[in-house]
Amino acid sequence: MVDKKKIITKNDHEEASTYGAFLIGKIIKQNQNPIANIALSGGKTPILMFEKLSKLTNLNWTKVNIFLVDERYISLDNENSNFNMINKHLLNNIDIPSENIKNINYLNDINEAVKEYKNKIVKEFSLSKEKPNPVFDLIHLGIGDDGHTASIFNPQKVNNEELIDITQGEQFDRITFTYKILNHAKNILFLATGDKKKKIVKEILKNNKRFAAANVENKGNTYFLLDTNAATLIE
Ligand code: 6PG
Repeated sequence: MVDKKKIITKNDHEEASTYGAFLIGKIIKQNQNPIANIALSGGKTPILMFEKLSKLTNLNWTKVNIFLVDERYISLDNENSNFNMINKHLLNNIDIPSENIKNINYLNDINEAVKEYKNKIVKEFSLSKEKPNPVFDLIHLGIGDDGHTASIFNPQKVNNEELIDITQGEQFDRITFTYKILNHAKNILFLATGDKKKKIVKEILKNNKRFAAANVENKGNTYFLLDTNAATLIE
């Protein structure tokens, strides 16, 4: 299989965020289908990229669905919620119809929330026995210091028979895409910046399967968008 991993290193966090916003915009514009389906992750690293993405003027957000890659199982107005961060730095600042925003609802029962979110995906992608895997135009992922991505902390402990699974984060229960979704995307964009990430970035690019981010074996393009600090240890 052609290795479609592309490492893009920018001078600093600001330049990486600018390029990431450009790349997401480019992928959205390249979409030939009636609507582009993208999925975004939480964390602190993508905040500036989302703010820059919201300022791109030539994007028609009515032709874009935005899903969440994962969520902490807390109310959406909690500052720790991924939706809360993405809403604040992107969704609130773009002209996107509410029906195009596919967030993970905080319901009484986490299993109900999983079922509801899975149904949103099945419906949007018209999944069936013949077509079991959604193909996202773009999935943005972060890389935790411990090598987690999405909310997959232990790559051995996620049920890849399902589209969505429940995992346990440090503070909160999590709902996350599994590799069943991650590994079928047309484009994966990892964004990792800062000196703190240099060791884990090296391990991921060495394909160290102990770490969840290294188990994303995407059939499409996989971009590793780094700054020079995060890329320090890459040969
Ligand atoms: C989450 C994110 C997670 C994140 C990484 C990196 O819910 O925490 O989806 O996968 O992308 O933890 O986070 P930072 O960008 O804050 O380092």
